[in-house]
Amino acid sequence: MNQSIGSSFSLGILGAGQLGKMLAQAASPWDLRLRMLDPSPQAPAAHLCETFVRGDFRDYQTVLDFGKTCDVLTIEIEQVNAEALTELEAEGVNVYPQPSVLKIIQDKGLQKQFLVEKNLPTSAFTLYDGPEAVRAAAPPLPCVQKTRTEGYDGRGVKMLRKPEDFDTLLPGPCLVEDAVEIHTELAVIAARSPSGEIKTYDPVEMSFHPEANLVEFLAAPARISPEQASEARALAEATIDAFGLVGLLAVEMFLDTSGNLLINEVAPRPHNSGHHTIEACVTSQYQQHLRAILDLPLGDTRLRAPAVMLNVLGADGFSGPVIYEGVEHVLSTSSAFLHLYGKTETRPFRKMGHMTVLGDSLEEAIAKARALQPLLKVKA
Ligand SMILES: Nc1ncnc2c1ncn2[C@@H]1O[C@H](COP(=O)(O)OP(=O)(O)O)[C@@H](O)[C@H]1O
Ligand SMILES: [Mg+2]
Repeated sequence: MNQSIGSSFSLGILGAGQLGKMLAQAASPWDLRLRMLDPSPQAPAAHLCETFVRGDFRDYQTVLDFGKTCDVLTIEIEQVNAEALTELEAEGVNVYPQPSVLKIIQDKGLQKQFLVEKNLPTSAFTLYDGPEAVRAAAPPLPCVQKTRTEGYDGRGVKMLRKPEDFDTLLPGPCLVEDAVEIHTELAVIAARSPSGEIKTYDPVEMSFHPEANLVEFLAAPARISPEQASEARALAEATIDAFGLVGLLAVEMFLDTSGNLLINEVAPRPHNSGHHTIEACVTSQYQQHLRAILDLPLGDTRLRAPAVMLNVLGADGFSGPVIYEGVEHVLSTSSAFLHLYGKTETRPFRKMGHMTVLGDSLEEAIAKARALQPLLKVKA
């Protein structure tokens, strides 16, 4: 009998941001009682869990103390204290994703080395101690510098196109990888349970905001051939299996202009590229994550309808207490779904929410989403 459903069971989550909020929404129908740890009592999920603990998920002792009160412990953000998680695992707490896997993924250098060791395709790279070492080596252009840790949403990634770009390298230990001639950026979310059952979602296509470097627009299913889609799913499955990870793994990939798939990076948690699964798939990525870490049967990943997801970003030039304009346009559009994360302050390009638009065809969903995009404004 699985003991995880019921009021005496304690599921802990490090982080109470928007991904934590959507995890809490998925947990609610099963009467799962969540405990969340986040430094900010204003965090999006802070009021949606049974127990909110204010504290720093990067601090060893804080994570240790918090984790001891949990039967299963998971994350909604990668930048957590993995040493404390290793200790908790040794003490018998079920920590998913496993701390050993998290430590590899937290460091983009170790992550790339892992992909190479496991013969998983990724662009060629070299590790460096810092910008001086990169300048001394002067790798051929174009290439991409990435900081090994702490990068997200494009912070920590620098395209190097011309010799002058070596003058403005990012500080700290880094890797430099070959620039890929990208045809399409794809993501596939895979789930794996402790027993080794694996399921993957349809590949989605991601377009990035040119300035903010955030996923701005996501289309499901990706406009690629059925063979390429199968190949992408198989690659995601092989990747989660290679890590032996329990939980979700979002696998970001490049389909290059020669038709090859290369893994860009992976994230061991629910992911921005899976928000649409809430309304567009039989099982949302959030419920799938819970199923995986609680050792419950994995759910059907099928897409019910073509979908577009748009991030709702803070408008450029506005900072302060947030005001949403044009919500009524989204709500009066059929099969359009609005998620506002509840962040009280907006900043330029801050992720404040998202909307998912379903269509009878992907073209219809894209047209509806494009029409809505300029009508919803996030101001201060
Ligand atoms: N090797 C590469 N070649 C071309 N573009 C790249 C490469 N690596 C990253 N990019 C671009 O930069 C974006 C962010 O890089 P990524 O490694 O995914 O960092 P982040 O952690 O910020 O998501 C990618 O989605 C892609 O658009
Ligand atoms: Mg990325």
